[in-house]
Amino acid sequence: MRIDRFLGNLPHLNRQQARLLLAQQRVRIDGRPVTDAMAEVREFSRVELDGEVVQAGKPARYFMLHKPMGCVSATRDPEHKTVLELLDEPDLHELHIAGRLDYNTTGLLLITNDGSWSRRLTQPQTKLPKRYYVETERQIGPEYVQTFAQGLYFAFEDLTTLPAQLQILGPRSARLSIVEGRYHQVKRMFGHFDNKVVRLHRESMGPLILDPALAPGEYRPLHTAEIEQV
Ligand code: URA
Repeated sequence: MRIDRFLGNLPHLNRQQARLLLAQQRVRIDGRPVTDAMAEVREFSRVELDGEVVQAGKPARYFMLHKPMGCVSATRDPEHKTVLELLDEPDLHELHIAGRLDYNTTGLLLITNDGSWSRRLTQPQTKLPKRYYVETERQIGPEYVQTFAQGLYFAFEDLTTLPAQLQILGPRSARLSIVEGRYHQVKRMFGHFDNKVVRLHRESMGPLILDPALAPGEYRPLHTAEIEQV
């Protein structure tokens, strides 16, 4: 929300008074004086007026989990273990998953309470590459490279996938980079060639690479530099 609107919503202020306070340099967001009425206030922002805290700001939380096989990327599930159950953290209900993985897919899973950060990471418009290691049932042919680069038509969504890069590593293994996260996207892309994916592991999402020190099921908070890269 804009700061003038945020201040104008306080019980003792209207929008005009809020603008005056801003012009008089009496407002700080996260410790910095703010005069721009359009400056953004988020649930994580600390807002001060004449040195008094009017919003303390919730801590933004970001975690990297090495998702193991056999758990669902959901916040709750009546049948299966969820990835959130792997986190020993308070207020788990405030967290969400930035880019789900299938039940048996392993690898990098990012979990946060910051919705705009996770949107930047997952929106196709941002074009952040998500890199997967893939193993298949049958041989991967050289023709896959061009087909994936051209994009595949997904009838259910009535769209053509954005260009994806395939690096063939062996007869039945490859590394695939996609910039979207359509439902079962990798499996459906190989499915186009009637080739079943038998192992799928996400190595990275944009600049964020799965920490090799994390064993399956382990997690850690993201470093500030990692958060800011997105
Ligand atoms: N594509 C899939 O098919 N499954 C995943 O878990 C991730 C990407």
